[in-house]
Amino acid sequence: MQNSVYDCVILPLSKIHNRAGNITIVEGQTHIPFEVCRIYYLYDIPGGEDRGGHAHKTLHQLIVAASGSFNVLLDDGQNKKIITLNRPDYGLMVVPGIWRELLEFSSGAICLVLASQKYSKDDYIREYDQFIDFKVRIHYK
Ligand code: TYD
Repeated sequence: MQNSVYDCVILPLSKIHNRAGNITIVEGQTHIPFEVCRIYYLYDIPGGEDRGGHAHKTLHQLIVAASGSFNVLLDDGQNKKIITLNRPDYGLMVVPGIWRELLEFSSGAICLVLASQKYSKDDYIREYDQFIDFKVRIHYK
């Protein structure tokens, strides 16, 4: 499995409009191609701070700007792309084997993440050199 940044796509989510606001629903395997096992969210991010800076070996994620905006840098070792997330009814699918950095958070931004597995420290690759080695190993498998 040699995932690339082109496998990371923006998914339009549902948006049910109500006179008192909107609701967006995400059901695992229905609206996104994995079951949701874990949810976490980043908030109170100080101005100028970045998050992420790692890759996952097997985890699938949907990243949503539940409030405000931020940029996601995706890197598969060969190609890079930057996606701006700024709407709660769109999510970015991030497949395994992609280096990501979360950048340029707006004030008050909330980054909601739906994840396919429980937290596992062993699923992280936190050094960029190790990420490149991982991609090369997968390529020759
Ligand atoms: P990390 O994933 O490194 O944050 P980010 O990529 O947003 O900068 O996680 C930060 C800390 O939180 C780290 O010590 C691991 C811990 N953590 C958990 O214990 N469980 C989780 O589900 C997550 C996402 C992080």
